[in-house]
Amino acid sequence: AQQYENILVELRGRVGLVTLNRPKALNALNQATMNEIVAAVSDMDADPGVGAVVITGSEKAFAAGADIKEMASKGYMEMYAADWFRAWENLTRLRIPVIAAVSGFALGGGCELAMMCDFIIAGDNAKFGQPEINLGVIPGMGGSQRLTHAVGKAKAMDMILTGRFMDANEAERAGLVSRVVPAASVVEEALEAADVIASKSKPVAMVAKEAVNAAFETGLSQGVLFERRIFHSLFATEDQKEGMAAFTEKRQPEFKHR
Ligand code: CAA
Repeated sequence: AQQYENILVELRGRVGLVTLNRPKALNALNQATMNEIVAAVSDMDADPGVGAVVITGSEKAFAAGADIKEMASKGYMEMYAADWFRAWENLTRLRIPVIAAVSGFALGGGCELAMMCDFIIAGDNAKFGQPEINLGVIPGMGGSQRLTHAVGKAKAMDMILTGRFMDANEAERAGLVSRVVPAASVVEEALEAADVIASKSKPVAMVAKEAVNAAFETGLSQGVLFERRIFHSLFATEDQKEGMAAFTEKRQPEFKHR
């Protein structure tokens, strides 16, 4: 397997686990870390042996943001010419389901990375925030858009304008996270969820993700049409035949395309 400097990468059965590993910087996301995460998850996306991915950090910090020290002295032309943060877009184009397992701080780019995943499972010690305003900037990895989609205008404005943090329970109430679990079991819980996903037909999981994501980019009637056409297309697959036959025969399905 490829060696990385800032992340640990493992395969647990059919689940890929990416663990951010810059403990001294609370997993601050420098450019090298960004490129490694994108490369590792892209490899998993292309690997037929991987059915889902979990991205996690440490118990203290999922990630405390983009690396402030790396950016601090840059000028406009440098940021523009490098199109700083653009590589993250690659992460949002992947087809494999990706779960964020968030313990501790998920701030700035950390919160934005979690929101680029398909869903977030939070430890009860999780703290989400977009505190960029305290640094004289605004979110730059999609936070002003994805947080607003996730929790609505009122809370997004509150968080982004004041820079305050949201704890795990508020994040769950607001719809930012799908589940809150004890901090010590957040990775285990995310791996279990990923394992369930990886036991399904991979192409069906991929189109399911595509259909949900269409809700963010299309109007309702176009989105519903998109969904229905995908639904129809699945009747050309062996896994639909197997899934429905297994139900009728009262047994567990054995999906071919896992
Ligand atoms: N970038 C670079 N280094 C960071 C960092 C970051 N985002 N966050 C923490 N670190 C470093 C600290 O500088 C410190 O390093 P040193 O020991 O070398 O000084 C180390 O991690 C530990 O941090 P603290 O001593 O600050 O730990 P703490 O427990 O006292 O506080 C914290 C934790 C509240 C998370 C605090 O570290 C903090 O406020 N971090 C910055 C949070 C932030 O502003 N994030 C947004 C970044 S900008 C961004 O993300 C832009 C975007 O939209 C993409």
